[in-house]
Amino acid sequence: MKVVLAYSGGLDTSTILVLLKKMYNADVITVTVDVGQEDDMINVEKRAYELGSSLHYTIDAKREFVEKYIFKAVKANALYEGEYPLGTALARPLIAEKVAEIALKEKADAVAHGCTGKGNDQVRFDITLKHYLPENIKIIAPVRELRLTREKSLKILNEYGYNIPTSHKKYSIDENLWSRSIEGGVLDDPFHEPPEEVFAWTVSPTQAPDQPLYLNIEFEEGVPVKINGEKKDPVEMIRYLNHVVGLHGYGRIDMIESRVVGLKSREVYEAPAALSLIKSHQDLERMVLTPREMRFKRLLDEMWSDLVYQGLWIDPLREHIEKTIDSMNKYVTGVVKLKIFKGSLNIVGRESIFSLYSKEIIDYNTGWYPSDEEARGFITIHGNYALTAKKVRSRFH
Ligand code: ARG
Repeated sequence: MKVVLAYSGGLDTSTILVLLKKMYNADVITVTVDVGQEDDMINVEKRAYELGSSLHYTIDAKREFVEKYIFKAVKANALYEGEYPLGTALARPLIAEKVAEIALKEKADAVAHGCTGKGNDQVRFDITLKHYLPENIKIIAPVRELRLTREKSLKILNEYGYNIPTSHKKYSIDENLWSRSIEGGVLDDPFHEPPEEVFAWTVSPTQAPDQPLYLNIEFEEGVPVKINGEKKDPVEMIRYLNHVVGLHGYGRIDMIESRVVGLKSREVYEAPAALSLIKSHQDLERMVLTPREMRFKRLLDEMWSDLVYQGLWIDPLREHIEKTIDSMNKYVTGVVKLKIFKGSLNIVGRESIFSLYSKEIIDYNTGWYPSDEEARGFITIHGNYALTAKKVRSRFH
């Protein structure tokens, strides 16, 4: 049996590699998709061969991840339940697509992934794989099937004489350019404050520099293009923001999250670039969109984020929604000024050629003023439904 395994080099996928190889005598081809996780890809490859992979692929999908996934998320201000920028959720369909391509190319009998039966990722992987693969290529999920726990995995790997990094023993970590997620261990107690050791991208706000960091982020049609006036390559821009914003202690999230599979979980994330770009983008939208556009877009943004979270990237509705999101983003061009200081982020300035804000009109001392008559007329009509309803109903109480 030839199996293509979506391999990250972490605890679960390493165990699966060993199991498929030694227990089922499968021919295993490993695929690692680089979406900006900070692992050394050479090491991951080395480890895959040590554990018995017969052929390893490393696929650099960073640019595609940023341009076709992350930038769409920025345009949609995508925050699941108002907090989580969807790093893992966005990367899964891309990883699954790449793995499916290799499975077809290698004429595999099956595709394997390391998702558990309790998480969202199984949903995202399975749905995307089902879309790209014919029915005769099976999807196998050994962690789900064998109910492998992290402890059991550790035991199996130890039996085969394989050492895994200590950080993997304590927490389950998933990272890519857009966010780093930390689950498990002491974090499973939602009242227990995350210990400093879980964080890798952000310094503790108490340790952050005493001088604030100012950043000017320039958007063109909803997409960030320049930082402090300097054009940046998309991947580099995200990396840069994660780095400098994280150094100032901003980007931590600690939330109770509603999983697709019917359970609440406690999630800790680091996402300095994602949060600063989304907050800036949202701010610029407030300047260029009409209030009704904004209200309608909030519904679309939320729907888009829910689809992504729920593993429904391939749902045609996503593309319908994106058409409207894109058409409103035509006007999200301009600069947003951020001030990041000891774990907080404030937007302290913005400008746009499409600005609906006019200093001349809003100024109390000069410029346009509605006349008393104009104002009274507007208020009479504007309040008429409410005033009439109150009057009619008061007769019956
Ligand atoms: N809760 C997040 C999501 O469903 C992140 C899951 C990441 N997995 C992990 N092992 N930390 O998208």
